[in-house]
Amino acid sequence: MLSYRHAFHAGNHADVLKHAVQSLLLEALKAKDKPFCYIDTHAGGGCYDLSGEWSQKKAEFEDGIGRLWSQPADWPELAAYLGAIATLNDEQGLRFYPGSPELARHLLREQDKLMLMELHNNEVEILRRHLGADPRVAIHHRDGFEGLLALLPPTPRRGLVLIDPPYELKTDYDKAVKGLEKALRRWPTGIYALWYPILGKQADRSREMLERLAALPLPSLLKVELEVAAQPADWGMNGSGLAIINAPWQLDSQLGALLPRLSHCLHQADGAQWSLEWLIRGS
Ligand SMILES: C[S@@+](CC[C@H](N)C(=O)[O-])C[C@H]1O[C@@H](n2cnc3c(N)ncnc32)[C@H](O)[C@@H]1O
Repeated sequence: MLSYRHAFHAGNHADVLKHAVQSLLLEALKAKDKPFCYIDTHAGGGCYDLSGEWSQKKAEFEDGIGRLWSQPADWPELAAYLGAIATLNDEQGLRFYPGSPELARHLLREQDKLMLMELHNNEVEILRRHLGADPRVAIHHRDGFEGLLALLPPTPRRGLVLIDPPYELKTDYDKAVKGLEKALRRWPTGIYALWYPILGKQADRSREMLERLAALPLPSLLKVELEVAAQPADWGMNGSGLAIINAPWQLDSQLGALLPRLSHCLHQADGAQWSLEWLIRGS
């Protein structure tokens, strides 16, 4: 049974990091006119109303996108991301937040394609309501790990895969590594971004997952992390990261410019930090 619902967390610090990286990757693909595809293995509902009951429950967005929104500043690396959010909202303030599918839909061009997978019965209906009418979008009600392999290699042949499991089931860590290994055999030139949580020391499995990923024969592997507080000894999420395979040229320098400022803006407690590291350098 799937119980995770992203509306509770939409727009939090982890979404900000994930969607900032996603937008930089999509903008890099747009540097060429040739069409590309965006594949989202765990799409969620697509777009979120931050005034809704679920988002208001813990109001996680207030310490995420809410901080960026309430402190207007020049964020060159976030221009595409913040631009997409601006088009969903009016002068009344921040109410609607784009999930990864809506962000991609906003940034993709007429010639590009979106392939979205979501397993939860209700979430896939919400996703269809938000994005189903767009002719560039194909929505698949299925397991994202299996579906990814069925879709590869995609047409068009350039593109980005975002893998964003809830990690509600511990098996997601293993499926992500095995899925990426198989996906790369089918489509070695795709860009892959795997999101993961950084949890308290007793619960964290992301370190082990990264070690397993770094041991694979990958073309390149860039790791970006943002922790808004020190890692707790027990449970709880203090940060998140993305492991990026085939990161485009200049992504590391863009993130190197963004992360110190983003970390300062989203800082919640002592021990907050960011990191950017090539675990495997491309040739
Ligand atoms: C973290 S949320 C996705 C958020 C979305 N990527 C975003 O950034 O806006 C994870 C989603 O994966 C869905 N899910 C869980 N297991 C899945 C599976 N095996 N295949 C596809 N979707 C799954 C959940 O229902 C949930 O909507």
